[in-house]
Amino acid sequence: MSNQCRPTSLSLGGIPLPHLGIDLHRKYPYIPTRGAPLGPLRNSCSPSISHRKILTQNDGKIKMTHVLILGGYGKVAQHLTPLLLKRSWAVTSIIRDPAQTDAVKKLGEKISHAGKHDVLVRSLEEITSDEGAKAVIDEVGADYIVWSAGAGGKGDPSRTFKIDRDAAIHFIRAASHTPRVTRFLLVSYNSSRRSKPSWWSDEEWAAAEHINKEILPHYNEAKVAADEALYSASRETGGRMAGICLRPSWLTDEPAGGVELGKTKTSRGSSSRESVARVADALLAVEGVGNVWLDMLDGEEDVEEAVKRVVREKVNAAEGEEVYQGRA
Ligand SMILES: NC(=O)c1ccc[n+]([C@@H]2O[C@H](COP(=O)([O-])OP(=O)(O)OC[C@H]3O[C@@H](n4cnc5c(N)ncnc54)[C@H](OP(=O)(O)O)[C@@H]3O)[C@@H](O)[C@H]2O)c1
Repeated sequence: MSNQCRPTSLSLGGIPLPHLGIDLHRKYPYIPTRGAPLGPLRNSCSPSISHRKILTQNDGKIKMTHVLILGGYGKVAQHLTPLLLKRSWAVTSIIRDPAQTDAVKKLGEKISHAGKHDVLVRSLEEITSDEGAKAVIDEVGADYIVWSAGAGGKGDPSRTFKIDRDAAIHFIRAASHTPRVTRFLLVSYNSSRRSKPSWWSDEEWAAAEHINKEILPHYNEAKVAADEALYSASRETGGRMAGICLRPSWLTDEPAGGVELGKTKTSRGSSSRESVARVADALLAVEGVGNVWLDMLDGEEDVEEAVKRVVREKVNAAEGEEVYQGRA
């Protein structure tokens, strides 16, 4: 075992956690038990994608990493929720229809060592201010936020603007003003951009523009606005909040497989919802992720390898966009 990865004991302000009456190892037996005490509460063994990052310290209080999922009954969210709970993270799922509560609660039922799972019934259409969004974030105590909601093209365009643009931006801005929120992952789509990226051919850009201008103009307008808002708000936090814009193509219900992640060769193709959830889960857990746009298609690379690579190589598909301004 390497020095960087030796067993550790957990302490808070020098007091071993068992002395504080906290028997973490009963609930989380995979937390190492011996070795050098930690100052700030953390695990000294930090693989690139941590499967053990279950605790954070905030003003001397011990707490689980808590993820707020907006659009908790959505298909991607239903794949993602068990993955997060498996990390022993707490999850709060926001849904609109109370009839979905039991189905959402079942998502974590069979997971051993699952984190706490709560369901909140709220309509995102009624979040009409940053303050309204902040009230939800504060009520939940979210550390990470996942936006996987969407009008799905149902209703008139004003519904798309209310949800995919306005409510998303309220949550983004509110999160950027909430110090405890350190990651915001927004599920967008790969053609959501204003200009042709240098790594796509004219033909690829024409195909993307056809979707944006002819097929989904309102969705495109809403998503570009939200993606840019996340990029700007995240940058304004000076690195405190990573704004992760995950950008799959047409979503399918195919089983998870390999992926192409970062700057994809083509604007066309499809993305398995289950793979999107796996990439989202890995991006929330990986060390060192920053303010970034990552396009995603079904492909050949293993999900964890792809996530580690894009973080290590600082791949950013926002490059070339006005909002990028040459920096993350
Ligand atoms: N479809 C595609 O091909 C595609 C491609 C790229 C990216 N995306 C994006 O990927 C994300 C996830 O996709 P998905 O397939 O998982 O979507 P989905 O199954 O349609 O899930 C979206 C969720 O948002 C919820 N929602 C809608 N309006 C709401 C409101 N006012 N208040 C609260 N919740 C509300 C829906 O609730 P209800 O169940 O009550 O309707 C639904 O559960 C979306 O952001 C989508 O825009 C989609």
